[in-house]
Amino acid sequence: MDILAQAKKLSQQGRTIYHMEVGEPDFPTAESIVNAGIDALKQSRTHYTPALGLPELRNTVAEYYDRKFSLNINPDRIIITPGASGAIQLVIACLLDAGENILLADPGYPCNRNIAQVLAAETIAIPVDAESYYQLNAEVVAKNWNDKTRAVMVATPSNPTGTLLPAEQLIELAQVVARNKGRLIVDEIYQGLVYDVEDYTALEFSDECFVINSFSKYFGMTGWRLGWMVVPEAYIDVIDRIAQNIYLAPPTVSQYAALTALTAETQIELDRRRDEFKRRRDFLLPALESLGFSIAVKPQGAFYIYANCERFTDDSFSWVKELLNAQGVALTPGIDFGQYLANKHCRFAYTQSLEQLEQAVERIDAFIRR
Ligand SMILES: Cc1ncc(COP(=O)(O)O)c(C=O)c1O
Repeated sequence: MDILAQAKKLSQQGRTIYHMEVGEPDFPTAESIVNAGIDALKQSRTHYTPALGLPELRNTVAEYYDRKFSLNINPDRIIITPGASGAIQLVIACLLDAGENILLADPGYPCNRNIAQVLAAETIAIPVDAESYYQLNAEVVAKNWNDKTRAVMVATPSNPTGTLLPAEQLIELAQVVARNKGRLIVDEIYQGLVYDVEDYTALEFSDECFVINSFSKYFGMTGWRLGWMVVPEAYIDVIDRIAQNIYLAPPTVSQYAALTALTAETQIELDRRRDEFKRRRDFLLPALESLGFSIAVKPQGAFYIYANCERFTDDSFSWVKELLNAQGVALTPGIDFGQYLANKHCRFAYTQSLEQLEQAVERIDAFIRR
């Protein structure tokens, strides 16, 4: 937040700022989706929907899994939520009571631990490194499990590292969680933004995990606040009751627009954007390495590069602030994502055009050589 506030202040002073701290696509929402939203408004689709979402959208998400992964998911298991954020709140509220804990990767998405804290649950942050692709594995989960542990949460691709959880590693994780009678939560919010390799979903391997997804990233709809979660059959009712109490219903106009987001036609445009993200990664990754950053695992998804900057500093937070003030390049320091080696890392988001990224790299170069 400090970095964002400073970047805004410098922008207002007329400075050119390269926003590589922003975790959302720079593209506007695709035109077909926007038009569907406008149509929904004109047709007065402005009332509450059921708490679990529009039945038509739940069916369409099920069809999407069928088209993309040849999976037959019961639409009743698909819960439409206000962003992945809404899903995270539901699942943590559902699985954890006060004093119980959830295992998370460090580095990882910061809101998970904060949401758990709001709900008086606890988190156990497990340091992860390149050896396990910056992801949890069965061995560390077994080692950290205690009698108050109820769940494990992973994200593939990960924020901040952009690394994928290999399918075999996920299967082993699911097994160790099941042996301990816990629940595995898999955040697939960056699904669709995967480069070089085939995408998968945890639902191919297990009907017992909670799978979170969103219209924010691949679908480019961050501000529409819409996501979904696929839950095991036994949890549909309890999730319904929690959703009714926390937010009543996900946003109606967004749900109608999302019907268009899931069509094969819109996907053509969304895949074009994914290809643009890949081009950016393919430029930025070697460019950062040639400046002296070290990137231990090639990120194969999302739009982030988590780089080791210890050649330049052992205090990445101060370094990032200095870089912003001196050269107008905004990054996110490692401390946002946890404690483990946080001072030696920073996250680059390639949510800027290729030209902007090229200029930003020149400025970082100048800063390093100062
Ligand atoms: C890993 C991860 N999960 C969840 C979210 C929440 O996204 P939203 O609520 O916009 O769907 C984000 C946002 O950056 C994220 O990176």
